[in-house]
Amino acid sequence: MPKQSDVLATDFLVKIAEEFGTPVYIYHAEKIKTQYEKLQKAFHKSDTRFFYACKALTNINILKYINSLGCGLDTVSIQEVQLGLKAGFDPKNIIFTPNCVDLQEIIAAKDLGVIINIDNISILEQFGNKFGDSYPISIRLNPHIMAGGNFKISTGHVDSKFGISIHQMRHIERIVKSTKLKVTGLHMHTGSEIKDVDVFLRGVEIMFEMTQHFPDLQSIDLGSGFKVAYQPGDPETDIDLLGKKLTEAFNKFSAKYERPLQLWFEPGKFLVSQSGYFVVKANVIKQTTATVFVGVNSGFNHLIRPMFYDAFHLIRNISNPKGTERIYTVVGNICETDTFGWDRKINEVREGDYLVFYNAGAYGFEMSSNFNSRLKPAEVLVKDGVPHLIRRRDTLEDLLKNQIELA
Ligand SMILES: Cc1ncc(COP(=O)(O)O)c(C=O)c1O
Repeated sequence: MPKQSDVLATDFLVKIAEEFGTPVYIYHAEKIKTQYEKLQKAFHKSDTRFFYACKALTNINILKYINSLGCGLDTVSIQEVQLGLKAGFDPKNIIFTPNCVDLQEIIAAKDLGVIINIDNISILEQFGNKFGDSYPISIRLNPHIMAGGNFKISTGHVDSKFGISIHQMRHIERIVKSTKLKVTGLHMHTGSEIKDVDVFLRGVEIMFEMTQHFPDLQSIDLGSGFKVAYQPGDPETDIDLLGKKLTEAFNKFSAKYERPLQLWFEPGKFLVSQSGYFVVKANVIKQTTATVFVGVNSGFNHLIRPMFYDAFHLIRNISNPKGTERIYTVVGNICETDTFGWDRKINEVREGDYLVFYNAGAYGFEMSSNFNSRLKPAEVLVKDGVPHLIRRRDTLEDLLKNQIELA
C-alpha cells in the first residue's frame, strides 16, 4: 500500500464524488511525480531514460503532466503517437512499439519522426526494402522468458505473439545486411507485474549478448513490468534493488562496449496505478441465501481488471469509514457476472454510500467501454490539492454521435 502521505484522504474523495458525481476516476498528479522520482533515484548512477507507457492511461492532461516531468512516452498505436504529439512530447522522446500493425501504420509513425520498434520479420524486411539506412529503427526481441503476474500479461515467452525470437537472429542479420537497415536500439518486454528483480537481470544479459550483432546500437530498452502493491503486504518490485543491480550490470557491460549505450524503460503501471481512485455508489444491498451483495453503479464496462486478470483492488466504504466491518461481495450493474471482489471485509455499506477502488489509475478508465449502453465515467485530476474535471461523463449523445440513422 502507498504511504499515508501519498494517499488522498477519504473525506476529500467523498467531496469530489459529491461535486462531480459517480462513477468517477480521480487521479493524484503529485503521486505520479513521486513515482517518477523513485525511478530516477533508483537509476541515477546509470545513463537511463524512462518513457511512460501511455496505454495505461491516456487522458491528455495526464500526458501533458508526465511530459512536464521530463519523461518520454511509449506508444502502441498511431493514435497514441498523435495524442503524445498533441500533448507536447518531442517526437524524439516518443517510442512506437506496435504489434501486428501493417506497414502503413509504421510509415505514418516514421513520417511523424518517432522512434520505431519493429517486432516481426515481415515488416522488418518490408521497411528495410523501402527505407534502407535512411531511417534508423529498433528491434523488439522475444527473449523467451516466462514472467509476469498472469498469462495474459506475459509477453516474453515462446508462445507469445510479441517480438522476434532471439533464435531468429540469423534471419534478422540477413535482412539487416541486405537492406542496409540501421538498427540503433534493441527492445524487450517480458510482461507486467514482475516481482523478481532477477528476471530483469536475465533479460538484460540476453540483450548484452545480442548487441554483438548490431554495430550501430545506442540503446537497450527493457520495457517494463514493475509491480506495485495492490493491498497491504502485497509484494512489489524492489525498485531500489533493481536500480542497483541493473546499474552494476549495465555499467560493467558499457565499460567494455565501444560506444555509449543508454538503458531505457517503459513504465506504465508503476507511474500511474497508485495515483488513481475509482469512486462508485452502492445502488443496492442484496441479501441472498448465500451472500450479501453490494451492487454498485458500475461494472466491468468501467473497471475490467478484476474480471479480465483476476486482479485484486482494495475496496473501502468512504461514506462510513468507522462502520462495523461486514463481509460483502461487490458486484456491478451490468448484465454479465461482473464481480469486483468476493467476501470483502468492508465497513458497513448502506445504499447510497460511496465505495472507492484503490490503484485504479492504470488500465482502469483506459480499458472502459460502453457495454450495455452505459456511459463512461468522468475523470478528475487533483493537482496542488485542487480537483479539476478532465473528462466529462458520457451522455446519450456521445453514444449516438457516430451512428448513422437510416431513413
Ligand atoms: C511494450 C510494453 N511496454 C511497456 C508496458 C507497460 O507495462 P506496465 O504497465 O506493466 O509497466 C507494456 C504493457 O503492456 C508493454 O506492452
